[in-house]
Amino acid sequence: METKLYKITDPSDSRIGQIGEALKGGGLVAIPTETVYGLAANALDEDAVKKIYVAKGRPSDNPLIVHISELSQWDELVEEIPESAMKLAKSYWPGPLTIILKKSDIISKTVSGSLDTVAVRMPSHPVARAIIEKAGVPLAAPSANTSGKPSPTEAKYVVEDMMGKIEAIVDSGECSVGVESTVVSLAVSPPRLLRPGGITPEMLTDVLGEIEIDSAVFDKLAEGQTASSPGMKYKHYSPDAKVAILKGDFEKFKAFLESHNEEGTVALCFEGEESSLPVKAITYGREKDSASQANKVFDALRRVDEIGAKQVFARFPENDGVGLAVFNRLIRAAAFNIIEL
Ligand code: TXA
Ligand code: MG
Repeated sequence: METKLYKITDPSDSRIGQIGEALKGGGLVAIPTETVYGLAANALDEDAVKKIYVAKGRPSDNPLIVHISELSQWDELVEEIPESAMKLAKSYWPGPLTIILKKSDIISKTVSGSLDTVAVRMPSHPVARAIIEKAGVPLAAPSANTSGKPSPTEAKYVVEDMMGKIEAIVDSGECSVGVESTVVSLAVSPPRLLRPGGITPEMLTDVLGEIEIDSAVFDKLAEGQTASSPGMKYKHYSPDAKVAILKGDFEKFKAFLESHNEEGTVALCFEGEESSLPVKAITYGREKDSASQANKVFDALRRVDEIGAKQVFARFPENDGVGLAVFNRLIRAAAFNIIEL
């Protein structure tokens, strides 16, 4: 299949009409969002949604997020919208937050991964919103990477993974948040944070009161444990290189690398640190600045493969606020391998 490439930054660009038509007609289109690029299909067209799983090589029990552009589109997707969910949506939509509720019958098992719930989000990216509006239907969209690879924060990474497999890729430049949306389930009580993201636990607590943080946010699932969010059980976000996170200050980090500077070793460090390290280094944002780390972490993980790294040692990120999302993604890339210095 020939994949069309569109560069669009203006939400009133007339080509968005064709893109909406392609989606409504059952095609797959990679679209920008404020978090990461998504691989979109008409959420109400089961055959179209099935093609997403094929293009990504995604396990069929891993459910998809449904994207809407108006609050009024939410109602038909779910059994009911409790007051707490509406309050949350009014506080943080449009934005990097996904809300899980009991699904309605129009959501197929293909979208829900056979669960009885559905995840819905209203992105804030103007081009994403314009595309959903023109399509006139809610769009199912996982991150637009091959399953297991880091999520794409720039269109060039979507091109790497999806060229020839989908109808079109819409390039709007870099994604501003850089990690996927916060996923919270209101289908359980108290509400449960399944995946940390740009909307922090504190921001959720402000609106919802008590919430629980799923153990899979920090830890590897135990043998036989069922994942609240199926995505958490798969090896995820991994570069081809082996990754370990080093816990300790910069001096210790540097000393560790001085005794581990074999060929193929790469440091994942903060901006400004690279020049004093004895090995090749890639930066992922600024120290003590979680938003900048979130913005760069997936890009950095893609780049370690580009330069053919064999072993990667990463600086330990902040792990509160948005930093919790960075920590959650990095420990998965590192297969939970943390070395105390
Ligand atoms: O920011 C984002 O959320 C991006 C952009 C494209 O919107 N999308 C995204 O989708 O990250 P995906 O499919 O890569 O991640 C969705 C996560 C998976 O871990 C999945 O298991 C979980 O959300 N999920 C989806 N529906 C669920 C449900 N009904 N119950 C529990 N977890 C669910
Ligand atoms: Mg994903």
